[in-house]
Amino acid sequence: MATEGHPYKTMLKVINVVGARPNFMKVAPIVAAMKKRPEKFLPLVVHTGQHYDSAMSDSFFRDLELPEPDTHLGVGSGSHAVQTAAVMERFEPVVLREKPDWVLVVGDVNSTIACALVCVKLGVKVAHVEAGLRSRDRSMPEEINRLLTDQIADLLFTPSHDADENLLAEGIPRERIRLVGNVMIDSLQKSLNVARALPTREQLGLSGVDYALLTLHRPSNVDLRESFERILDALEVIAARLPIVFPVHPRTKKTIAELGLSARVASIKDLRTVQPLGYLDFLNLSSSARLVLTDSGGIQEETTALGIPCLTLRENTERPITVEMGTNVVVGTDTTKIITAASTALNGSAKRTLRQPPLWDGQTSERILDALEEYSV
Ligand code: UD1
Repeated sequence: MATEGHPYKTMLKVINVVGARPNFMKVAPIVAAMKKRPEKFLPLVVHTGQHYDSAMSDSFFRDLELPEPDTHLGVGSGSHAVQTAAVMERFEPVVLREKPDWVLVVGDVNSTIACALVCVKLGVKVAHVEAGLRSRDRSMPEEINRLLTDQIADLLFTPSHDADENLLAEGIPRERIRLVGNVMIDSLQKSLNVARALPTREQLGLSGVDYALLTLHRPSNVDLRESFERILDALEVIAARLPIVFPVHPRTKKTIAELGLSARVASIKDLRTVQPLGYLDFLNLSSSARLVLTDSGGIQEETTALGIPCLTLRENTERPITVEMGTNVVVGTDTTKIITAASTALNGSAKRTLRQPPLWDGQTSERILDALEEYSV
């Protein structure tokens, strides 16, 4: 790591942690903003390696112009305990060596809690970006990661008012909470024109065609045959109306094979499976989709920002603001409910009236930096 000769006492050395796919678009604008304030910030990027496939990791560095990691921990896949423990074991020496002023963690993946826990034990200040979101479903691994990270972080950057309310209700002092808006929207706004100009739709034979876009990777949907089959039954009906593009997450690819569902997936005409897409290609497709079906958290937010109808194939959401103000409908995994909600969305106008949650304005990373400076004096 090129971090020697750190000349200014006032400069803040910040380790920015990335681990899994949904982290990259949150950290990229923050690191870019830090590089624009070189007299104040010395940003380092540590990649835990939780995601390691080129399609799940490298392509995001390129698309988001995220600098190569200063350190790669190379932890890879494993059970939750193994993965979390491996991140902790490998991250601790990096923190001891670098002595950062802050460590910044984002989101709710295993790398987030693992790195936050290392820091709190070492007495190094941690800031959590995307704090306070709650699904109130403790069977979701991410919910545990969110709850615990927020309890131990020093500074909590929230995307929306509901997150502030959740944190206050959990007894977190108000002075640790900063409502800064949604940092993913910084990336989205920066990349939208570039993404729209790509030939992604043409290459998939979708130019001028109405299509739906689908992502599925939650263990509760794809690891269980019954829920996966209920969703597939609905997709069969929807795909009879318009093609559905389905970039398949590695976990989902694995479980389709393990559950013996490959033939069933292949039999659904116009359910078009493709490799996981990079950030810009996915944005190209999502920004012009007639409908998005997903169990992802971030995609509920991106479709809200884009004004694209979104059906969330889960029983709950930790992002209620996307339902309150945006285009998201939480439909669950009941076949009939999915089909009915898809019909309603497809029969409505292609785009709903755009209402944006406050501070989802592309300036969130700047507000995060302002707050880090303020809390460091
Ligand atoms: C993780 C996050 C989840 C996030 C998702 C986005 C946790 C608990 N889960 O889930 O919150 O929404 O990332 O993608 O942190 N695999 C590969 N290549 C990779 C990464 C994973 O093949 O680059 C396969 C492995 O078989 C692995 C499985 O996918 O066992 C699951 O990966 P893992 O990181 O454990 O969880 P995700 O389901 O990706």
